[in-house]
This record gives sequence, C-alpha cells and structure tokens, in this order.
Amino acid sequence: MTQPPLPVSKIPMVPPRILLGPGPSMVHPRVLQAMMQNMIGYLDPDFIKIMDEVSELLKRVYQTDDAITFALSGTGSSGMEAGISSLLEPGDTVVMCIYGYFCERMVDMATRVGANVVPIRADWGKPFPEEMLEAELKKHTDVKLVTAIHAETSTGIRQPLEGISRLAQDHDAMFMVDAVTSLGGNEMAFDDWGIDYSYSATQKCLGCPPGLSPVALSARAHESIKSRSTLPSSWYLDLALNANYWGFDRVYHHTAPVSMILALREGLRIVLEEGLESRFARHETNAAALRAGLEAIGIKMVAPVGYQLAQITPVWIPEGVDDDAVRHMLLRQHSIEIGKGLGELAGKAWRFGLMGESSRPEYVLALLSALEGILPRVGYETASGAAVGAASQVLTGG
Ligand SMILES: Cc1ncc(COP(=O)(O)O)c(C=O)c1O
Repeated sequence: MTQPPLPVSKIPMVPPRILLGPGPSMVHPRVLQAMMQNMIGYLDPDFIKIMDEVSELLKRVYQTDDAITFALSGTGSSGMEAGISSLLEPGDTVVMCIYGYFCERMVDMATRVGANVVPIRADWGKPFPEEMLEAELKKHTDVKLVTAIHAETSTGIRQPLEGISRLAQDHDAMFMVDAVTSLGGNEMAFDDWGIDYSYSATQKCLGCPPGLSPVALSARAHESIKSRSTLPSSWYLDLALNANYWGFDRVYHHTAPVSMILALREGLRIVLEEGLESRFARHETNAAALRAGLEAIGIKMVAPVGYQLAQITPVWIPEGVDDDAVRHMLLRQHSIEIGKGLGELAGKAWRFGLMGESSRPEYVLALLSALEGILPRVGYETASGAAVGAASQVLTGG
C-alpha cells in the first residue's frame, strides 16, 4: 500500500527567539544540556537521590526550613489547582484578594470545587489594600484559606504579603500564595512570611522550560489535607499523594517527567550558584534600565513606583499605536517576543518580561533599540537613541 507523504513541517527546528514576554523565558544552556541525558526510571535509587536534591534546593529558593518542597507535573496553573482542590473542601470559606487576571483564575478554580468563595475585588494595577481584607475577615468566623498573588503578571504589581499573612493568622486561616512569577526573581520568604502553601512555575525566573510547578507546603497545610472529611476533587493534583511520592513513602503516583526534573535541578543549582541576593539585584538593575529607556520616549508604566516588579513591566500602549503591528514587527524583524495585555488590559498594554535568563542588559538594549526603530513607523515619534541612551546610563551606573 502506498503511504501518503509525511507531513514535513516547513519549520524543521523552531527559530531562535529573544523571549521578553511573560514566559516562557530564555533557558540556560546548562539546563538544556541536563535535559539531554539518557532516560532513567522514576523509582531508580539514583533518580530518587536527584529528587531529594531538588527538594533541598527548592527549600533554599523558597527560604524555608520546615516546609515540604517538591514539584508537580504541570505548569503553574497545576500548582494553583492543586492548592485550591487540596486545601478546600466543598462549603469551606476562602477569602481571595483580587487585583488582576490570575487572581480571577483562582476564583474560577475555587468555585469549581464547591467552596464558599469570597472574592474581594480591588483595582487592577495597584497593590491590594489590606484594609479591604481586614474588613471582610471581620464578617466571617470560619475562614479556611486566604489567597494572594505575589507577582501579578497581568499588571506588574509586586504585592507585599506580610500584612495579608498577619490578617490570615489572626483569623486562624491558612495562607496560599502564587509565586509563579516571583520565585527566583525576587525575595520569597516562605517561613518568615507565614505562608502555608505556595506554587511557582519553571518557565519564568528559574531559567527552565515550562512543565513543572515547584511547590512548598507547610506542616499545618499538610495536616489539614490529611484530616479532610472528603477526598480532594483532583486525584492527579492531590498534594498529599504527590508529597508521598516525593518525600514520605515513595509510593508510585504517576510517571514523573524525568527530563523536566533534571532540568529543574540544574536550573535551581544555577539560581543558587548566582546567589539569591545577586540574582534579585540583577533583575532590579535590568528592570530599572528598561524603565528608564521607556520613560525617555514617553512610555508610561502600569504599576506605580514602589510596587513595580522587576520581572515584568506592563506599559500603556501609546494613543493611536497599533498593538498587533508593533508586536508583529518585533517578532518578525527582530525575533523578539513580548506579551500582550490580559483581561482588563487587553489591547491597552504591552508586557515586557525580564525573567531569569531573559534578564540581561544586552536584551534590554536590543528591545529598546528595536522599539526606537519601530515606533516612528507606526506614527509614534521618538528622539533617536533616547531610550537606549537612558538605559545605558543606568546599566553603566551613570
Ligand atoms: C501569576 C501567575 N499565576 C499563574 C499563572 C499560570 O501559569 P501557567 O501558564 O504556567 O499555567 C501565570 C502564567 O503566566 C501567572 O503569571
């Protein structure tokens, strides 16, 4: 029988890209190499040693001595869904601080598990006001969980967490934090900030491809899952079952994505070799240079000074400038990917990501130089060299 020809792609390999959006971000070459090792069984004693090492490295990155740390098979949303479905039973009250697109995703998930969901909606593009949480908590006697997002990728807000944590503790509620865009890019002090459950993603500030959600679970949260009266609605994302495979009984749960775990180990080693403080400082300097460059050509940031994330810089698209055309030219003519606005900011904002391996001075300068070339062609005049000049001054300490 004659076979039809193979559907051979015109793109045999993906083209090189400079990834300056909300993720995935650039991947460190050592991480790519780590993924090319031969396959090994997920219960092989040598692989289990590697998993132990990943847990240990994660403890350092999450800055925790006491939490159980491991990685879920799935992207950041799997960490979110694991927390919601494992920590909440139908009817449990969860008070959710809402100030962006990903906060709303949490509301959707909590509604699906049948929890009594209390969203407190605040303005997008501003830090969440703790007084709103304080006032809401006074209305309830039995709050099981309070949720917040450390780095709201849709608006670029860095949310202070200590106050929210204190309020949760005062009401004897557990505290769940989304650290998808913050882990490895800015301070995340799991123990000091009284967090009970936090999850992240490999593709942002950890320099790995997408595919795992590294999590930290406090002893209290673990106990609370074990003493549930109903089983979590998700078997695959049951945090207690996953913790058993990673640390306690090594009970088979599902086939671990071996190559991604090897990638994560290498990514975490690189993070800690650089040192957390130096890594955070690198993110801050490159973001300051980017902001200076953008401001020099009249582009305004979405997040207010004092609450701006270094990892992601959402900006208002200048009046009359075609959103799609600029992103298209950046990609096609400069191989640079940036992010578009989400939710309330769709069509109104661009999001420039400088996360992990993408946070490099050379990428900041390449992006600003490309924008200086493109913007006048879409009707937005800029003084030639102004953006690159302002950014260079920050980068050279001028
Ligand atoms: C703050 C935040 N939470 C959750 C997610 C979802 O993560 P993922 O797309 O890896 O599932 C994202 C993705 O960008 C995010 O930025």
